[in-house]
Amino acid sequence: MSKSKQELLGYQSHLIQDNLTYFKPTRTSTTVTFAEEIRSSLQEPKKSISPKFFYDENGSKLFDEICTLPEYYPYNSETEILQSIEKKLLPYLSNEFHLVELGSGSSVKTRLLIDVLFKSQKHLQYFPIDISEILDQSAKSLCMDYENLKVTGVVDTYEKGLDFIEHYDDKPNLITFLGSSFGNLDHNEGMKFLQRINTLMKSDDLFLIGLDLKKDHEVLHNAYNDSQKTTAKFNLNVLKRINEELGADFNLENFEHHAVYDEQKGRIEMYLRSLSEQSITIPKSDLSITLSKDELIHTENSHKFSISQIESYLKESNFEKLEMWFDSRKYFALVLGKKI
Ligand SMILES: C[S@@+](CC[C@H](N)C(=O)[O-])C[C@H]1O[C@@H](n2cnc3c(N)ncnc32)[C@H](O)[C@@H]1O
Repeated sequence: MSKSKQELLGYQSHLIQDNLTYFKPTRTSTTVTFAEEIRSSLQEPKKSISPKFFYDENGSKLFDEICTLPEYYPYNSETEILQSIEKKLLPYLSNEFHLVELGSGSSVKTRLLIDVLFKSQKHLQYFPIDISEILDQSAKSLCMDYENLKVTGVVDTYEKGLDFIEHYDDKPNLITFLGSSFGNLDHNEGMKFLQRINTLMKSDDLFLIGLDLKKDHEVLHNAYNDSQKTTAKFNLNVLKRINEELGADFNLENFEHHAVYDEQKGRIEMYLRSLSEQSITIPKSDLSITLSKDELIHTENSHKFSISQIESYLKESNFEKLEMWFDSRKYFALVLGKKI
């Protein structure tokens, strides 16, 4: 990695220990981006907040809690696939790979992949890319548990992380995108994103993506409307974050979590519903807004895919599908691909 590229991306490098470095933009630049994006998305006729802003420290903790809920099947389903992947994945790992992970979070499922990679190579360099500061803790904990692991983290958006790893060196990358985070993107964004990944891949790189499948509506509904209301807390936490970081005055009691499955669009849509007519000011975004009773702020889409949709996404973005693995309930798919 040449120094000029880090500088170009505006990163500060943090060398934590011999086997752990991470790169992140300055706090001032991330606050400015946050304030500007909130200003623009809350001024639209249909107000929204990007799901990438869910993940402050508390949001990341709440997401980890969601993963322990019985209703939240995506975590268990994908884990089940990863637990039985060793024999199926090893034949593709004849070279020594780097592991690159988009949206690595607490890197819990990643451990299953790291274990497989260590069956075929002695040393491993892991590049977690995540917008959340949770990356610091998860990287430290991995370094404690794996002796021959070197971690180079990027605390930034997927796109910036991809810029960072492009042309890093000649070693092949196994690029992973787990948790069906891809489902947050709409069709055009998703196509562009896959094309971007495809363009930066070398011919011997592999791409492993986890995708949530279409299924019974009640199962879907319950996964995003859990009985412990953890998803509701996760959704509302974004307003708390805007209060804390941008000085806003959202009263969380005046909003409620709302998540519905839109069959035609094949996605769960998540909103915050305003329970009364109210005005909000967000000083650091230089913004005042009014919300009417029952007005919705859109916070996330979570698309669910059919197998044919997955196949056409891959084909259109120039990927050859090598494998598609499922859990026993066929709730979730893990797809291994390479560049055509
Ligand atoms: C749904 S969680 C999935 C976490 C983990 N991969 C898993 O499967 O359990 C999404 C993760 O991606 C990160 N994230 C969300 N949007 C992002 C973005 N635009 N750029 C980088 N990271 C993002 C979040 O901080 C979070 O850790």
